[in-house]
Amino acid sequence: QDARLEGPIGLIQQALFIFSWFLIIMSLLYRDTGASNTYLFMVQARGIMLKENVKTIGHMIRLYTNKNATLNGTDYPEGNNSSDNLAQTVMYLPENFTYSPSQPCPEKLPYMRGFIDVNMSEIGLDEIQKIFSKDLDIEPGGHWRPKDCKPRWKVAILIPFRNRHEHLPIFFRHLIPVLQNQRLEFAFYVVEQTGTQPFNRAMLFNIGFKEAMKDGDWDCVIFHDVDHLPENDRNYYGCGEMPRHFAAKLDKYMYILPYNEFFGGVSGLTIEQFKKINGFPNAFWGWGGEDDDLWNRVHYVGYNVSRPEGELGKYKSIPHHHRGEVQFLGRYKLLRYSRERQYIDGLNNLLYTPTVLVSKLYTNVTVNLMPELAPVQDY
Ligand SMILES: *[C@@H]1O[C@H](CO)[C@@H](O)[C@H](O)[C@H]1NC(C)=O
Ligand SMILES: *[C@@H]1O[C@H](CO)[C@@H](O)[C@H](O)[C@H]1NC(C)=O
Ligand SMILES: *[C@@H]1O[C@H](CO)[C@@H](O)[C@H](O)[C@H]1NC(C)=O
Ligand SMILES: *[C@@H]1O[C@H](CO)[C@@H](O)[C@H](O)[C@H]1NC(C)=O
Ligand SMILES: *[C@@H]1O[C@H](CO)[C@@H](O)[C@H](O)[C@H]1NC(C)=O
Ligand SMILES: *[C@@H]1O[C@H](CO)[C@@H](O)[C@H](O)[C@H]1NC(C)=O
Ligand SMILES: *[C@@H]1O[C@H](CO)[C@@H](O)[C@H](O)[C@H]1NC(C)=O
Ligand SMILES: *[C@@H]1O[C@H](CO)[C@@H](O)[C@H](O)[C@H]1NC(C)=O
Repeated sequence: QDARLEGPIGLIQQALFIFSWFLIIMSLLYRDTGASNTYLFMVQARGIMLKENVKTIGHMIRLYTNKNATLNGTDYPEGNNSSDNLAQTVMYLPENFTYSPSQPCPEKLPYMRGFIDVNMSEIGLDEIQKIFSKDLDIEPGGHWRPKDCKPRWKVAILIPFRNRHEHLPIFFRHLIPVLQNQRLEFAFYVVEQTGTQPFNRAMLFNIGFKEAMKDGDWDCVIFHDVDHLPENDRNYYGCGEMPRHFAAKLDKYMYILPYNEFFGGVSGLTIEQFKKINGFPNAFWGWGGEDDDLWNRVHYVGYNVSRPEGELGKYKSIPHHHRGEVQFLGRYKLLRYSRERQYIDGLNNLLYTPTVLVSKLYTNVTVNLMPELAPVQDY
């Protein structure tokens, strides 16, 4: 009799237990539809069955919190103890260092303190412009260069844009002081898509690149989503021997690199590197896939990707929903032909007529994107 009682009660308890886990996991996944979409995409991209999600999260956490697994692509050799990088008292320069306008700026400066606050409170663009207009060294287009030393990199920051006006001032408030502390020369290019086509982040980057090249003598370009804010000002925004992936750990992915080939959010290449890979593909309409294609392009020409080590690569993302942004379902097909498409679609087949307005903090490049701007035979 007891056994018969236990049976159904045990089953119910088990069912409740499983159901509560289900609820917890679903609430984690669906807290932010944007993040959950991305997560499902990550899983699809790895060819893992969706029903194995739960197992995969745990697996990924174990994989990526294991120190061995995060050592690849690191470039801060001094210290495997990543909290070394966080200590606020570390001297980043020899004490006897003197600045000189004829000397290159060092890559590590005492101004770079490690973790910094991320202020996500909304503010008007006018107000931000007023705040920075006190800084007389910021020239139109947000162009700034250090005066006490020679900047090691001249960095054009490209920001693909549509319908996110509230994010821009938050972005500038956060990033301008960081880049000044890093003693980089920089300016911002906001590349805005008009028209009714799905968002094409990659084509916007190609256009921003071409416009920036007309404008200044840059040697490094950073491809930067407007909603990604670095949490550590020692994440140095210069380029290097290898293309660089800055946004290695996003809060929306629980600070885990979602997969080794992830190249999204914030990345940077020298002019030479970007030209050599023929830029981004133009054919990714809608959300997702273009960063994976860029990863492929970079590796096909023999580069590897470097990443900031440990805590340096942490980013916070401004919460939002993918308002009216559709996923690009054709991306898997295009990604299969990444190699074949590299030199028929990119910087070399792109024709467009932009509207360019230079404002206080950025150059506004506006384009109505259409597939006809990047003609290519179908694959
Ligand atoms: C890290 O790798 C070394 C050998 O490469 C191995 O001995 C060690 O157990 C690994 N550590 C962990 C935590 O897996
Ligand atoms: C790290 O790189 C080595 C080759 O340099 C490779 O064999 C290994 O799988 C990589 N580890 C990860 C976690 O990507
Ligand atoms: C890492 O560094 C911190 C402070 O510098 C120290 O307290 C901690 O013990 C170190 N951890 C290891 C594993 O060395
Ligand atoms: C780094 O690792 C080596 C061994 O791999 C160890 O001897 C050394 O103490 C570690 N340094 C820190 C700062 O944790
Ligand atoms: C600065 O100090 C370091 C040792 O702390 C010394 O090796 C170096 O020669 C000094 N440089 C100058 C320019 O004085
Ligand atoms: C965030 O920024 C706003 C406007 O720039 C400012 O008033 C507020 O004090 C800031 N908050 C923090 C915590 O710094
Ligand atoms: C990239 O990494 C692979 C494997 O770790 C290595 O064999 C190759 O030499 C690297 N390429 C460059 C250009 O460093
Ligand atoms: C950029 O300029 C266009 C006009 O060409 C304007 O409609 C748009 O609001 C501007 N965008 C930004 C972000 O300033």
